[in-house]
Amino acid sequence: MTSETSRGTALEALYEERRTFPPPPEFAKTANVRDRQVYDRAAQDLEGFWAEQAGTLEWVKPFTKVLSWNAPYAKWFEDGTLNVSVNCLDRHVRAGRGNKVAYYWEGEPGDSRAITFRELLEETARCANALKELGVRKGDRVAIYMPMIPELPTAMLACARIGAPFTVVFGGFSAEALAGRIRDSEAKVLITADGGYRKGNIVPLKKNADDAVAQSSSVEKVLVARRTGHEVPWTAGRDVWWPELVGKQKAECVPEAVDAEHMLYLLYTSGTTAKPKGIVHTSAGYLVGTAATHKMIFDIKEDDVYWCAADIGWVTGHSYIVFGPLANGTTGVMYEGTPDFPDKDRWWQIVEKYKVSVLYCAPTAIRTFMKWGPEHPAKHDMRSLRLLGSVGEPINPEAWLWYHETIGGGRCPVVDTWWMTETGMILITPLPGITTLKPGSATFPFPGVGADVVDEDGRSVPLGGAGYLVLTRPWPAMLRGIYKDDKRYRDTYWSRFEGRFFAGDGAKRDEGGYFWLMGRVDDVMKVSGHRISTTEVESSLVSHPAVAEAAVIGREDPITGQAIFAFVTLRGGSDGGDGLSSELREHVVGKIGSIARPKTIMFTPELPKTRSGKIMRRLLRDIANGQPLGDTTTLADATVVETIRAASAQGRDDA
Ligand code: WTA
Repeated sequence: MTSETSRGTALEALYEERRTFPPPPEFAKTANVRDRQVYDRAAQDLEGFWAEQAGTLEWVKPFTKVLSWNAPYAKWFEDGTLNVSVNCLDRHVRAGRGNKVAYYWEGEPGDSRAITFRELLEETARCANALKELGVRKGDRVAIYMPMIPELPTAMLACARIGAPFTVVFGGFSAEALAGRIRDSEAKVLITADGGYRKGNIVPLKKNADDAVAQSSSVEKVLVARRTGHEVPWTAGRDVWWPELVGKQKAECVPEAVDAEHMLYLLYTSGTTAKPKGIVHTSAGYLVGTAATHKMIFDIKEDDVYWCAADIGWVTGHSYIVFGPLANGTTGVMYEGTPDFPDKDRWWQIVEKYKVSVLYCAPTAIRTFMKWGPEHPAKHDMRSLRLLGSVGEPINPEAWLWYHETIGGGRCPVVDTWWMTETGMILITPLPGITTLKPGSATFPFPGVGADVVDEDGRSVPLGGAGYLVLTRPWPAMLRGIYKDDKRYRDTYWSRFEGRFFAGDGAKRDEGGYFWLMGRVDDVMKVSGHRISTTEVESSLVSHPAVAEAAVIGREDPITGQAIFAFVTLRGGSDGGDGLSSELREHVVGKIGSIARPKTIMFTPELPKTRSGKIMRRLLRDIANGQPLGDTTTLADATVVETIRAASAQGRDDA
């Protein structure tokens, strides 16, 4: 655990400072959660606590059973039936909130739209009818590969309306990455767009979509939203324009009542092998968990304008741009582009324009804003903000304090929320009306959540100590498995510590019981909050004809948290060069996507290996991070490390 070392130092610095932030009295007075008893209540009666939350949803057939837990398989609200889109849309319209804005959508070039709950419901119904016309039936999978435009949540809700599980593939992934996900999910229809805008350029989504469909056999129809209006390749008979097909449908669609455990979506995420895992989320428990956490953690009120600045292609967007907020009838902001287009104050301009009251984003973004300087937020009136959130990677105390002061004006609580694609909902987090905050700590498990820190042997580590984070009780939005791979599900999460969920994160609890997350302990990197597997990058590197071997590690980075550092051995002993390193970078981009572009490539004649031939990544991590080397006695050839060290001064950084 390299991250432990540097983070350890940061933590110690913080302990010395011992600054804590109790809830501001004004905030606490009106907070959705004001009573600490919520923790005892949920601990004593887990099922009662969640049944109460589930009671706020609209059921077609009410559930009588809350939980059946046959580790590692959970079923929540098993005998109930409902429809997720009805809970996100229809019931709000029926309750008289039809004209309330569901999304303020802001396009990168500066165009914008306000979409009401009624409009979103009608377009969802039309899209659902269109999917039916394309042959999609309950249970069929639909792949979605789109930019951040209103048609994206609409497509997800339309699938939910007819009981078709969807899988959203982040628009930054390559054609090849999309193809792999289409093949695994056997999607029948792909929904995409002509393109999307990013930093003023057009991302050629339709072209990628075509390339992906060519590498898979299940897709029968491609539904194409219009965003950029540029000319795109077209396959007659297979491709259909959204405006034409969806536009002509009826604005009503009878919702399909599905079982609580019906699959809502699959979301592919990186693990420790080259093949991404299809994480399965089901309907009722997921919606209950995301809605309850959204309401309690973000303290959502009827008139809030809530902005989660993630991309819907990641789990954060699924749970906290689409399902949680819509289930709560919340007005959200959705932004298509990058924070520096056209200028570095774009986010703050959006906060001012829509009077955003709650902002949720990643530490990488905060550190980037710190680097850009306080003059950008200073140009805008941000007094509407009352609560800030952070997610995706550990937030260092300095960034936390800057966020609190410079963005929050010192008055907004900062909720640092820990969770994963697999958990579906936030699990470790402050409750802003009752939790005293410590910068850099995600504080405590959400009510009803069992979290522990254990040693190698699974023994709970006493307060003050560090170890592995595990979850000890089921929670409603938990993954139900890995699609078509039950063995991997059991092996990855449930075999390391019997009966407990192994998160893959290192954690420490201080004397006060506060949780401090310390980064991944496996071969998963977090680069700008994006989850990327070292093995996946390695296997894309070795698929290049010039490469003999590759070892990839996450090097600590002041802005992106971790940065991709690749050690590469070439075939025929060639020693590479700038031309080859940029070729390899583009090769990885083509295989996975630009998020996986290695920052540094270092050509080395050999990689350090044990006598049995295993690459010693620990040593490589130390070399990349410029740290003293640990034990080298198991190396087959001790001189190789010195050779790499000498060469490491010449590691080629991306421009
Ligand atoms: C990391 C993102 C520290 C962690 C929602 C986890 C965090 C991985 C935090 C899951 C946080 C997420 N503090 N680390 N507040 N939130 N992580 O699946 O390493 O993209 O295992 O889900 O992100 O990443 P994923």
